[in-house]
Parts: sequence; structure tokens; C-alpha cells
Amino acid sequence: MSTTERRRGLFLTFEGMDGCGKTTQMRLLAERLRRAGYDVVETVEPGGTAVGQQIRRILLDSTNREICPTAELLLYFASRAQNIEQVILPSLRAGKLVLSDRFTDSTLAYQGAGRRLGEEVVRQLEQIACGGLKPDLTVLLDIDLETSLARARARNLTEPRAGTRMDEQGAEFYQRVREAYRRLAEREPERFVVVDGRGEPEDVAEAVWAALTARLPELHV
Ligand code: TYD
Repeated sequence: MSTTERRRGLFLTFEGMDGCGKTTQMRLLAERLRRAGYDVVETVEPGGTAVGQQIRRILLDSTNREICPTAELLLYFASRAQNIEQVILPSLRAGKLVLSDRFTDSTLAYQGAGRRLGEEVVRQLEQIACGGLKPDLTVLLDIDLETSLARARARNLTEPRAGTRMDEQGAEFYQRVREAYRRLAEREPERFVVVDGRGEPEDVAEAVWAALTARLPELHV
């Protein structure tokens, strides 16, 4: 599962806090890339495979209050290992463009920083579960804490699924998540593109597109 083995495709991830608009932006980007002729595969974490969907249900079920932070960490990586093996690597090897709604940066931000498990343990598991697979480019949709909490609240009011287990954290948790994301982006400026997620979806989509085409000259659009 070395990086050289899968060099043919391109692996892009979307990251950010709850309510940052990743899912919408990823969908808009996928449509645009398909119109430009790319073979695009979309995936999501946790989830992305049938097994991943089952793990996702355990993780987000708000009645599972007793899940301890280490079990939570391992479950996110279990879903990811399955997704890599079953969807991401085969698609990259076939030369496809893979878009993932969240990946290891989420675990660094939410479990490493949010749950205070630390970066080291997340990196160790990344070695085991991802075997060196890193995104070629990561779009971080940055929004402030107030916007994130307000959007999450609004979503929980309008969607029948109600709040997930991960929505039940306090403001300090989300503050640590946001700071961790920003630190990761500062540390790896060549991989991260940071886009302000607060505007109208169409404007954010334009900003994502501009950043992407500037960063990835190999994209022919
Ligand atoms: P989801 O409903 O998909 O939220 P979002 O649309 O914001 O991605 O739920 C995913 C939740 O799981 C979200 O709160 C972030 C969290 N998460 C982690 O804590 N660690 C991880 O490694 C991943 C992938 C997600």
C-alpha cells in the first residue's frame, strides 16, 4: 500500500468543523470535475463502505454514551482502513479522482486535539491503518466556532436524524478542533488549501475551484 503503488489517480480530501459546508462543496466540486471529463469517486468518513456504514452508526448513535475515547479512535480508523482497502486504493490505482468527505486530519483534530488523545497515538494508528496514504490536496473549509455551532443547531432542528453523539461536545472541544485544523494547515502549506467557509455556497465553490486549479496544474479543465 505504498504511495508509489497508487500514483496514477489523485486523492483530494475535504476537512473542517461540523457545519462548515464540506459536503455541499464536495458535491459541487465532483459535479464540476465530472463535467470536465474526470472519473470521480466520492466517499465519506466515517462510512464509505457497507462495513464503514455500520461503524458510522455505532459512532454517531447518541445512545452510545459509554464509548471511551480510545474505542472511538479505533473505530474511526477501522472505518478508514476498510474504505482505503475497498474503495480508495482500487480507485486510485485505476487512475480515478477520489474525493473524501473527511480523512485522517479529522482524527487528528477531533480525537487528537478535541478528545486530547494527542497527535502521537493518531500518527501510530495512521501508519497501521493508512500505510502512508495521504491526500494529494486537502481543502480546509474554515469557519468560526459560532458559525459552526449555529449551523449544527439549525441542521439538528430541520433534519429528522437529530443530534449525533459527536454533536454533544462543549465549545472548548470545538475550539481545540478548530485550532488543531489551523495548525495542521500551517504545518503543511503545500498540501492544505484553506478557504473561508462563511460565504454563499456558490462563492465558496468558486474559491475552492480557483485554489484547486492553481495548486494542481495536472488537472486539465
Ligand atoms: P457527520 O454527520 O458526517 O458530520 P459532518 O457532516 O460534519 O462531517 O458526522 C461525522 C462526525 O464524526 C463529525 O462530528 C466529525 C466526527 N469525526 C471524528 O471525530 N473523527 C474522525 O476521524 C472523523 C472522520 C469524523
